[in-house]
Amino acid sequence: LRYPVICIDGPSGAGKGTAAWRLAKTLGYQLLDSGALYRIVGLKAFEAGLISADTQQQPINETALLELTKSLHIAFEPNHDSGRVDIIVNGDIIGEQVRNETVGGYASQIAVFPQVRQALLKLQQDMATRSGLIADGRDMGTVVFPDADVKVFLTASAEARAQRRVTQLITAGQTADFDAILETIKVRDDRDENRTTAPSKPAEDALLIDSSTLDADTVYQRIKEHCQALG
Ligand code: C5P
Repeated sequence: LRYPVICIDGPSGAGKGTAAWRLAKTLGYQLLDSGALYRIVGLKAFEAGLISADTQQQPINETALLELTKSLHIAFEPNHDSGRVDIIVNGDIIGEQVRNETVGGYASQIAVFPQVRQALLKLQQDMATRSGLIADGRDMGTVVFPDADVKVFLTASAEARAQRRVTQLITAGQTADFDAILETIKVRDDRDENRTTAPSKPAEDALLIDSSTLDADTVYQRIKEHCQALG
């Protein structure tokens, strides 16, 4: 038995996480934050010395990376305070510490390896065997759930996404350099869109939404209307 699956793919900063969380709450579905999976593997790989912050680095030991990925027992728990899911890795709660751009970069480094992606596939697909699912990521509609009930590809210009990040950091009382953030976003987009395995791209049957000039509520309403239109 497979429950309904709604895929929301697209680059980070386009508003997927916010829309996915709200939709999951409204519909009473589980939320798959697939980026968090890649972030955890990226962070653990960094801690184990398998990747470095310098992306122009030496070749990665793929066997060790795969073993490390397989050794992680990963589960999700909704966290109503943060409005995201917490990730439970080998029994430990990993909170917001994986949500920064540095770990996003580690994630995108390890996400290019087909065997790593394969090792994370079943865990993701199994989530649709327990309840309805909102799946947030890059390849939800193309690879993980090709026969999903609803597919949305939510994007926004790199400049709009960088500006949102700057506003977020400043609101949190931190400093922010627009140009540096824009460059980091472009590097990560480029790696995610141009990798050979499961590149970030819209599924053929996905609804495209560009959120560059839309607020979060409008994005949510459009996705919800699209879900209703499909029944
Ligand atoms: O969405 P988020 O920014 O958390 O994703 C972090 C990184 O994980 C992405 O830049 C991408 O490299 C990788 N990722 C992926 N496939 C997914 C989700 C995330 O390759 N389904």
